[in-house]
Amino acid sequence: MRAKIIAVLAGLAFVAAGYPPSHASAPAHTYTIGMSQCNLGEPWRVQMNADLRAAAAKHSQLKIVFKDAQNDTLKQRSQVEEFVSAKVDLLIISPKEAQPLTEPVARAFEAGIPVIVLDRAVLGDKFTCFIGADNKKIGKAAGQWIAKKLGGKGKVVELKGLMTSIPGQDRHTGFREGIAGTDIEVIFEADMKWLEPLARREMESALSRFDHIDLVYAHNDPGAHGAYLAAKAAGREGIAFVGIDALPQEGVAYVAQGILDATFRYPTGGAEAIGTALKIFQGEKVPKQIVLGTRLFDKSSVATGGQPLP
Ligand code: FRU
Repeated sequence: MRAKIIAVLAGLAFVAAGYPPSHASAPAHTYTIGMSQCNLGEPWRVQMNADLRAAAAKHSQLKIVFKDAQNDTLKQRSQVEEFVSAKVDLLIISPKEAQPLTEPVARAFEAGIPVIVLDRAVLGDKFTCFIGADNKKIGKAAGQWIAKKLGGKGKVVELKGLMTSIPGQDRHTGFREGIAGTDIEVIFEADMKWLEPLARREMESALSRFDHIDLVYAHNDPGAHGAYLAAKAAGREGIAFVGIDALPQEGVAYVAQGILDATFRYPTGGAEAIGTALKIFQGEKVPKQIVLGTRLFDKSSVATGGQPLP
């Protein structure tokens, strides 16, 4: 007991004498970024978080707290609200769906928290900056590539991404623009919600209904791969597969192995989001929208790192 009192008094004397000097060892101001990821079920989202983490690790003043909504919109809404109550310095969100996440994002923004919306957009303009590639452009380029590959004529299956998300909608309308005026017929279309097992199931239905399919256009590489597996299991040959994402270890590897015929890069935007967050913290003005570039990987370009889209 006596020893304890002496230790406490000694400690007080130490602090009173000005040790440790508060200014010299005090850490620089740190910023906490809350990151709301809609799910970590697909490799592309794991990559997005890794890109964010790697970019933030270069700046000791940044701390990121990740939350995974596990593909549950209600969970993602409440996780955004938790970040707002915790008064994070900035919110990054990659929302599952546009409409239901619009309101919590707007409330965070109105509470004075800068918000970067990454990859899947929300509605309206109550956020600081949206970062993502142009999905309509990617869809249109996919349509044009497919039209060329099929010589302007053929039977196509379209496996769509979640149609309550903007990338799903844009990859669909862009594609339809890309094949407009050709004799390409979309004989089967289904919403596979970005999920490989669902894409495989939908493709099984398409295969049982149609004896002849020339090509599958899936809105992401897991979807294209699921369709490929269904065709392979059914012993159906001669079908081409096109996807989107082009992760090096996923879509690009599939093209190199001859599983997919083409894929288009959909960059995660992780590094750009951190760069934008830093600018916001430094009081710089940032654009409302940052559009990322894309690349095509097909048999002729996969070995040389793909080809940028104009
Ligand atoms: C992952 C993912 C990607 C796709 C993106 C669209 O969840 O489905 O495959 O490109 O989301 O937002």
